[in-house]
Amino acid sequence: MSHGLVTAAYIVAAVLFILSLGGLSQQESAKRGCYLGMLGMLIALLATVFGDKAQGLGWVIIAMVIGGAIGIYKAKKVEMTEMPELIAMLHSFVGFAAVLVGYNSFIDPADVAPDMETIHLVEVFLGVFIGAVTFTGSLVAWGKLNGKIKSSPLMLPHRHLLNLAALVVCFLLMLWFVSAEGSMLALIVMTLIAFAFGYHMVASIGGADMPVVISMLNSYSGWAAAAAGFMLGNDLLIVTGALVGSSGAILSYIMCKAMNRKFLSVIGGGFGQAPSKSTQEQQPAGEIHEIKAEQVADMLKNASSVIITPGYGMAVAHAQGVVADITSKLREKGVEVRFGIHPVAGRLPGHMNVLLAEAKVPYDIVLEMDEINDDFKDTDVVLVIGANDTVNPAAATDPTSPIAGMPVLHVWEAHNVIVFKRSMHAGYAGVDNPLFYKDNTQMCFGDAKATLEEVDKNI
Ligand code: TAP
Repeated sequence: MSHGLVTAAYIVAAVLFILSLGGLSQQESAKRGCYLGMLGMLIALLATVFGDKAQGLGWVIIAMVIGGAIGIYKAKKVEMTEMPELIAMLHSFVGFAAVLVGYNSFIDPADVAPDMETIHLVEVFLGVFIGAVTFTGSLVAWGKLNGKIKSSPLMLPHRHLLNLAALVVCFLLMLWFVSAEGSMLALIVMTLIAFAFGYHMVASIGGADMPVVISMLNSYSGWAAAAAGFMLGNDLLIVTGALVGSSGAILSYIMCKAMNRKFLSVIGGGFGQAPSKSTQEQQPAGEIHEIKAEQVADMLKNASSVIITPGYGMAVAHAQGVVADITSKLREKGVEVRFGIHPVAGRLPGHMNVLLAEAKVPYDIVLEMDEINDDFKDTDVVLVIGANDTVNPAAATDPTSPIAGMPVLHVWEAHNVIVFKRSMHAGYAGVDNPLFYKDNTQMCFGDAKATLEEVDKNI
C-alpha cells in the first residue's frame, strides 16, 4: 500500500473515531457510534498491517489471530457486571505495550534524525513512565473491582510525600537519561519506580472513588498509546491516543463533578476509608420493616406515581427484563412510572442505561439524578432495586460519613420506599445505610429477579 493511501486511510479512520465518540454520547446513537468505531479500527488495522512501513507480516497476522481469538472469547464470556474489570485489564495491556514499545524504540531506534535525538529520548522516557504507571495502576484497579484486592484505601504513612518523591526522582532520572544520551540503568530504575508509583496511587484510592479511577486510567492508557505513536512515528496512534486520553480526562472530570469530588483529592486517595470509631458508634440502628412481594404488587397497583432506582444488584440479578415488564403493566394501568439513574450506579458509566435500553424500557422515562431528585417528595412508591450507596441518605445528612458530600438520589423523601436486596450487607463503598431503618422504608429480601418475578405475577 502506498504512503499516500495509508495517510488517506488514517484520516478516514480518525474521522470515524471522532464520529464514534460523538455517537456514544447519546443512548439513541450509541450503537451507531460503536459500528463507526469498529469500521475505523478495521481501516486503521488494514492500513497499518499492509501499509508502507509493514514488516514481518507473518508474525503480525499470527499475533492478530491469537489476540483476536482471545478477545472474542473474553468478550462473549464476560458478564455485563464484569465489564469494568475487563476494561481495567485491557488498560493494563495498553500500558505494558507502551513500556515494551519504549524499550524497543530505545534499543533499536529506527531512523532518528541526529537533531531529533533528544526529543526521541524524552518520548521514550515519558512513554515508558506513563505506560508503567498505567500498567500497575490498572492491575490494582482490576483486583479491587473483582474483589481480589481489598477495596478500602491503602493508607501508608506520608503517602503524599512518597508520591511526590517518586515523581521528583523520576524527573531527575530523565535529566540523567537525556544528558547521558540514553542510559539503560536510568530507564530501568525509572520503570521500577513508575511500577511502584502506579500501584501505590490506585491502591490508596478507596472503593467509592473507583469510577473516577477507571476513567482516569482510561485517559492514561490513551496518553500511553499516543506516546507509543510518537515513538513508532505512527500518526493515527497519536490521534487515537489523544482522543482516548482527552475523552477519558473529560469523563473523569464529569465523574468528579457527579460525586462532588476534586480530581486532586481523588488522586491523593483516602476517600471511602473505614469509618472512624466515633462514626462506627453512630451506625444506623433501629427496626427494619419487611414486606412480601404480593404486598408490593398491591401497593404498586394502588399507586399513581412510581420511581424505580436501579443499582448494581439489578445488574447481578439480571432483573432488568422483569423490571421492564412490571413497568409496562403499570403504565397500561395508568400509573406514572419513571426511572432515576445515579451517575455511578452499577459498576461502569452508563451501566443502568445500557441494561434498561437492552430490556426495551422507553428512553423518555429514564431520567438522570438531577432531573428527578426534586420529584421524590411527590411520589407514592419508590422501588430501590439492588442500589445501596447511590441512595444512602448519610451522604447528604451525615458529615462524618465516609461518603459525605456525594450527591445521592433522595428516595427517602417519597411516601413509600421498597428496597429489594438479599441481606443487610453494605454496598460497594462498605458504608451502612440508614435508609433501611426509616419508617417509610420496607425491605423485600431475596434475589431481585426472583422477588420481582413474584411481584410481576401479582400485578
Ligand atoms: P452498591 O452500593 O454496590 O449496592 C449494590 C446492592 O445490591 C448491595 O447492597 C447488594 O446487597 C445488592 N445486591 C447484590 N446482588 C443482588 C441480587 N442478586 N439481588 C438483589 N440485590 C442484590 O450499588 P449502587 O447503589 O449501584 O452503587 C454503585 C457503587 O459502585 C458506588 O459506590 C460506586 O461508587 C461504585 N462504583 C461505580 C462504578 C461506576 S462507574 N458506576 C465503578 C466502580 C465502582 P445484598 O448483598 O444484601 O443483596
